[in-house]
Amino acid sequence: MASLKDEVLAKLAAIAAPDGQPLPSTGKLSEIVASDGKVFFSITVDAAQVRTWEHVRASAERAVRSIPGVQSAMVALTGERTGGGGAASAPVRPTAVPGAGRPAPAAAGRPHGHPGHGPQPAGPAGIPGVGAIIAVASGKGGVGKSTVAINLALALRDLGLKVGVLDADIYGPSLPKLLAIKERPQTSGGTRLKPIVRHGMPVMSIGFLVEEETPMIWRGPMVMSALTQMLREVDWGNLDVMVVDMPPGTGDAQLTMAQQVPLKGAVIVSTPQDLALIDARRGIAMFRRVNVPVLGIVENMSTFICPHCGTRSDIFGHGGAHHEAERLAVPFLGEVPLALEIREKSDAGLPVVASEPDGPHAQAFRAIAARVREGLQVESRPAPKIVIEA
Ligand SMILES: Nc1ncnc2c1ncn2[C@@H]1O[C@H](COP(=O)(O)OP(=O)(O)OP(=O)(O)O)[C@@H](O)[C@H]1O
Ligand SMILES: [Mg+2]
Repeated sequence: MASLKDEVLAKLAAIAAPDGQPLPSTGKLSEIVASDGKVFFSITVDAAQVRTWEHVRASAERAVRSIPGVQSAMVALTGERTGGGGAASAPVRPTAVPGAGRPAPAAAGRPHGHPGHGPQPAGPAGIPGVGAIIAVASGKGGVGKSTVAINLALALRDLGLKVGVLDADIYGPSLPKLLAIKERPQTSGGTRLKPIVRHGMPVMSIGFLVEEETPMIWRGPMVMSALTQMLREVDWGNLDVMVVDMPPGTGDAQLTMAQQVPLKGAVIVSTPQDLALIDARRGIAMFRRVNVPVLGIVENMSTFICPHCGTRSDIFGHGGAHHEAERLAVPFLGEVPLALEIREKSDAGLPVVASEPDGPHAQAFRAIAARVREGLQVESRPAPKIVIEA
């Protein structure tokens, strides 16, 4: 029995490109991701030819949808500017965020050499109107990046900064849940997306654009294109800081951010135990490799304070991240206790900094935000060499 992917290719063979060639022979198709009745792929063409390809895209999408068993098909048309700098892909269909562009060219990213040695190639283009972009990251999943990202953003907002939040975790977006957002973003001026505004902050997540049940199967180039579009094709307005909630790991998404976005710095989240710290170390090493300054480490799920008796217990240990920060010569930004309230509020779409602005947990995030703001004003320090244990 032919696989769904083969069926898609067979259907596409009946569609002619503007020059008459069958679509699969043009070399312009991305990897076809087909799973559970959902099909995603993109067509990447020269930016000047985008208009002549739109009907091909539409026919391809229709054809794929007509395959029995296909519940949804999303085909993105991406215009690639040849020889230009900055944002190389110009998506022409605002709702087609999961489109595949070309992989981020390493040469267009941050210099990988040693800072201060010879002329530096130009870094990635900024996002007009957006000041510092900071990534909240960790090597390990589930350590509380998203919780820290949203509360840090709120605390920075309370320091008087204009803050936006981008959920770059396209594998498992968290913002819709963390902020209880059900609505979909509208388009603005026909080609761009308007972010959703919550707590006075523009926020954007791939989770606003796809159904919750949609399996997040993304291949490298698709990850890059989706991120690039969420960064560059959304009306962020004027922001002092954009907080980016990263997916776990040190893979394509992180490298894309570092290569395509002028990241001002990274905040690394870790729980106190050794295993998480090893992953945090990997995260730090990755950002350093792409010359993104590490603003510091946050120890999350630190000391547990019993809500009934007030007893402190160090469930995952305590102080490990602080110690690690010293060892790696990066600032320690502060600790956030393991607290039932933080989890419950997060699950209810009410981050503690917004829902209990004067409570002790909000205070913890405010202290971290103050240090992050401080870190954003100082120049990056030369990074000492670190060794990563396998
Ligand atoms: N300090 C804390 N106290 C109690 N629960 C917490 C705390 N921080 C995070 N959590 C809970 O832990 C779970 C994981 O947190 P979160 O989603 O922020 O982690 P993550 O690192 O973003 O995960 P992923 O790697 O899947 O993106 C959530 O249920 C969250 O509410
Ligand atoms: Mg997360």
